[in-house]
Amino acid sequence: MIWLELQRNTNSIKIVTVEKVIDETPTVRTLVFSDEFLARVLPGQFAMVWIPGVNELPMSVMITQEKEKAAFTVRKHGPSSTALYSVKKGDQIGVRGPYGNSFTIKQGKLLLVGGGTGLVPLMRLATFLKKTDDVTVIIGAKTKGEVFFEGLANKLLEQNKHNVLVVTEDGTHGESGLVTDAMQKLLKETTFDAVYTCGPEKMMHKVVQLAFEKKIYVEASIERMMKCGMGLCGSCCFGEVLACKDGTVFDGQYLLTNKEFGHTHRNKSGILENY
Ligand SMILES: Cc1cc2nc3c(=O)[nH]c(=O)nc-3n(C[C@H](O)[C@H](O)[C@H](O)COP(=O)(O)OP(=O)(O)OC[C@H]3O[C@@H](n4cnc5c(N)ncnc54)[C@H](O)[C@@H]3O)c2cc1C
Ligand code: FES
Repeated sequence: MIWLELQRNTNSIKIVTVEKVIDETPTVRTLVFSDEFLARVLPGQFAMVWIPGVNELPMSVMITQEKEKAAFTVRKHGPSSTALYSVKKGDQIGVRGPYGNSFTIKQGKLLLVGGGTGLVPLMRLATFLKKTDDVTVIIGAKTKGEVFFEGLANKLLEQNKHNVLVVTEDGTHGESGLVTDAMQKLLKETTFDAVYTCGPEKMMHKVVQLAFEKKIYVEASIERMMKCGMGLCGSCCFGEVLACKDGTVFDGQYLLTNKEFGHTHRNKSGILENY
């Protein structure tokens, strides 16, 4: 990582051209661009993405199968994410980063639990695991049409002993229910050396609790409102820590002492709101 830091100031915006747009679901797209620095980030790290004339948003850095290419996988939600989702091949966006810490790579029997675009850092994590690891991935979605990265997860882990489980809330694909129901069922039959999670915070809270009760090492990557992404503005404060600088990855032991985790977050004005 040292040579990367020497060659580019993490905090300066680089303008990149979107080279490919991949439809993952009717509301989720992956945007691919060339950037040798973001192509190499650690699992869990994010970038700040400038959509000219609109806003700057934090985005986890997605993997691509192509050398020196990086990507973002964005869900169309409010005005800024919809603007990013609507970017076309040939359009330009600005990127700065990478920012944040990363997942701790453990070995053995590993469980990755993701919901929605929370799967992005988990897919990157999958590329850092050893071929000898036995990896289970639980992918959660509301309905079949919202499931993505099932094929990718199987492909990334094809040389591992692995199991990719899909869970939909309406039962239209895979098991019916919540990812945490599937996790609870798994934990009755087996145990893991480590659990990693990213997705809606209430889901992560339950995942962390379940792992912690079984004394399994667990880490979650959390989201907070981010403006600077580099520890200056304070908008991402998460209890006593800053999500952008001290996280976004925290271990279960810390998370269960942070009263905000799974309960409250700050809105754009910095006011605490319940989840
Ligand atoms: C570290 C990190 C990584 C992320 N990775 C992804 C990803 O890979 N793919 C993806 O689709 N989304 C990701 N997000 C969420 C994304 O940054 C936006 O929050 C989300 O797309 C909603 O944007 P919006 O313009 O539609 O929000 P708005 O409609 O303007 O607001 C809706 C809600 O989105 C959240 N939000 C809006 N702006 C920000 C901001 N600057 N920082 C944090 N939260 C905000 C707030 O909770 C807000 O209430 C990530 C967020 C963080 C913090
Ligand atoms: S986003 Fe500014 S301090 Fe974290």
